[in-house]
Amino acid sequence: MSVHEEPGLVDRYGRAHRDLRISLTDRCSLRCTYCMPADGVPWLASSTLLTTDEMVRLARVAVSLGVREVRLTGGEPLLRPDVVDVVGALAALPTPDGPLDLSLTTNALRLPALAAPLRDAGLDRVNISLDTLQRSRFLELTRRDRLADTLAGIEAARAVGFAPIKLNALVMRGVNDDEIVDLVAFAIDRGLEMRFIEHMPLDGGHTWRREEMVTGEEILEAISARFPLEPVGHDGAAPAETFRIAGTTSTVGVIASVTRAFCDRCDRVRLTADGQFRNCLFAHDESDLRSLLRDGADDARLAQAMQACVAQKRPGHGIDSPDFLQPARPMSAIGG
Ligand code: 5AD
Ligand code: SF4
Repeated sequence: MSVHEEPGLVDRYGRAHRDLRISLTDRCSLRCTYCMPADGVPWLASSTLLTTDEMVRLARVAVSLGVREVRLTGGEPLLRPDVVDVVGALAALPTPDGPLDLSLTTNALRLPALAAPLRDAGLDRVNISLDTLQRSRFLELTRRDRLADTLAGIEAARAVGFAPIKLNALVMRGVNDDEIVDLVAFAIDRGLEMRFIEHMPLDGGHTWRREEMVTGEEILEAISARFPLEPVGHDGAAPAETFRIAGTTSTVGVIASVTRAFCDRCDRVRLTADGQFRNCLFAHDESDLRSLLRDGADDARLAQAMQACVAQKRPGHGIDSPDFLQPARPMSAIGG
């Protein structure tokens, strides 16, 4: 078999996995109510955290199996002290198609200090979480009075030229669903792409209620009442359905993970900060790559473990099924 015919990370349903999400830390500088309880969650023990060399080695193995895109997540990935080195090492990883497509999802708090070094190290894009533009609401939602710092982080990302910059808002009924239009206007004014995400059952506090979820359809209705939208579709495996605001070059996206699940075109796998490989956000089983690594496994053995994990991937998240069970690991320790 030639290199190009390797089975790579293809599952039983024919889905090839090209996008690896690496969680750099489970810690966070905010305490978003939908993500963590006020006191946080029990943190991963530091001895279990992958070193940067271990992480880069696993990324290299994933690349040998067809991964071409790496997204760094958390917790808050910018809290990892050596995040710039991680980006540099990943940016230097060769793939048959050129450098990896490297992006990062962040709450932006550390971007004023880190945007320039990250760009210089080879980071291509950032996605920034922004659920509200109101200071008191930001404080309620994140339990930290840091809206001004988030906004400064967004400006820093713009100033160093990251493009496109996507802003992600999780929409919650009675919490921030009256701000949808304001968030779109904020993004348009700054040449950013606003994206709205349906709430998924992933929070550490287990507060998710199906009936309370604001659906993608409701979000679109709210935007259309102010901005006429033209569908653009979605590109490839990307979860967002994209719409152009008529008469402008601006687009907005809706990620309807629950009501319009995109599991059938999912191309994502995940590596947690403590070295567990996951085939789905909602997976119950993980493959313990950290132990394999530390027991001296060679690259072929690591590749085999990744493939075995992907082979077990279920067709979808099953949120609507009566026997749905939330994963034991909180979102902050999985990575978005
Ligand atoms: N459902 C959907 N998105 C979530 N995020 C965190 N928790 C959830 C959830 N339960 C998103 C945040 C942030 C990213 C890190 O993950 O909105 O943009
Ligand atoms: Fe931190 Fe993101 Fe969780 Fe908020 S959602 S507490 S920013 S990891």
